[in-house]
Amino acid sequence: MEVLRDSKSGKPRIGAPTSMLTSSRPLRLDEIDGNHGERMSLPIGEFARVLGGGIVPGSVILIGGDPGIGKSTLMLQLAAIMADDERGVLYVSGEESAPQIKTRAHRLAADSSAVSDKLYVVTETHLETIFLHIEAISPRLVIVDSIQTTQTEELDSTSGSVSQVRECAARLTSMAKTSGIALFLVGHVTKEGAIAGPRVLEHMVDTVLYLEGDHNHAYRLLRGVKNRFGPTAEVGVFEMGGSGMIEVNNPSEAFLSERFVKGPGSAIAVTMEGTRPLLVEVQALASPSSFRHPRRTTNGVDINRLLLVAAVLTRRLGLRLTDQDLFVNIVGGLQIQEPAADLAIATAIASSVKDVPVEADVVLVGEIGLSGELRAGGQLPARLMEAAKLGFKRAIIPISAALGNPFEADIEIIRVRDLRDALKPALRAS
Ligand code: TYD
Ligand code: MG
Repeated sequence: MEVLRDSKSGKPRIGAPTSMLTSSRPLRLDEIDGNHGERMSLPIGEFARVLGGGIVPGSVILIGGDPGIGKSTLMLQLAAIMADDERGVLYVSGEESAPQIKTRAHRLAADSSAVSDKLYVVTETHLETIFLHIEAISPRLVIVDSIQTTQTEELDSTSGSVSQVRECAARLTSMAKTSGIALFLVGHVTKEGAIAGPRVLEHMVDTVLYLEGDHNHAYRLLRGVKNRFGPTAEVGVFEMGGSGMIEVNNPSEAFLSERFVKGPGSAIAVTMEGTRPLLVEVQALASPSSFRHPRRTTNGVDINRLLLVAAVLTRRLGLRLTDQDLFVNIVGGLQIQEPAADLAIATAIASSVKDVPVEADVVLVGEIGLSGELRAGGQLPARLMEAAKLGFKRAIIPISAALGNPFEADIEIIRVRDLRDALKPALRAS
């Protein structure tokens, strides 16, 4: 990207309205260079994967997530790793004092001598002052943590209000576009009913990432939900440790590491997170209810998926669930959005109700229809290869599922028409 510079000083011009700086000229499509400029390489593999390989100069990346999930931690690690000797990184915090950030950096080992002395930290919420700092330092990357604490003097409203958040983000974005500086904006996901969460900014930025996870678990998923410069829906997996976020290079293995195979109510689903297959353990517990309306509780699965699966189990298989409380949980604090996990959910519930364990070497893939019929999800070969790689011996999949030719993986394929057929090989002991 071309960097617009001040005619006198030659420095990049910061914070000026875009309309003053850009003059457009229509180009024939074949005249346009399809590359977004050279990406800055990002040596955190799981992070780079979500961004599509590296950081595009001048791009704006919004990173949202619940308070306390690890956004600032990940951003400080990013800042430390991206600061090189030529151009630095500016980390702007409106939430913590400089000593607090120093303490955190110490914990992350980000203040060791290996880190460039061009990692700059400033505690500032005033937008106009932030621009002055950016101009003075001329970094390659700026992190604003968080956009909700940033405030421009041009508006009277308080920081965190929709108008402040929008205006600050818009002006920071135009700064990034005109200067070629890459920009990360941190946004807290606000509770339902509250305003000015990251959602109001999604359309303004190039890339939107959410950091997800369960506070009770160490795993964190960095999930791409929008990306103008790369694949969307890609996921990076991290583990929150004592010294920051550690990449998890083999997530399926990590998610299955604590599996208790002999117990009933546990089944293995193979979901796709972006282009990566992920094996996860679904746990279900059915227990006699003392309520007139038995309870349905989920963790990591959409409650409506559970209600559908439970209804199909009741109506099509005659499983008695109406007087049972049902709990469904995805181990590791993962959120599953894919219907292809239905079959594993149903199998885990049936296994718990019948008190029969699911065969330990089986994985299950399939979306359940209202008649109990099974439908295939996409990318089945990739899923089955991953299952085979982790030592699973059999995969129960819908009869209609296309595997492509030739499919070679060391795993036995069991094709089934409906849920009833699937449960036979899955719960063989029953
Ligand atoms: P933080 O990055 O401050 O979250 P956010 O910016 O999203 O609000 O992370 C806060 C939590 O992470 C806090 O409970 C402490 C924990 N943590 C670790 O477990 N290990 C670490 O190395 C650090 C720095 C924090
Ligand atoms: Mg924070």
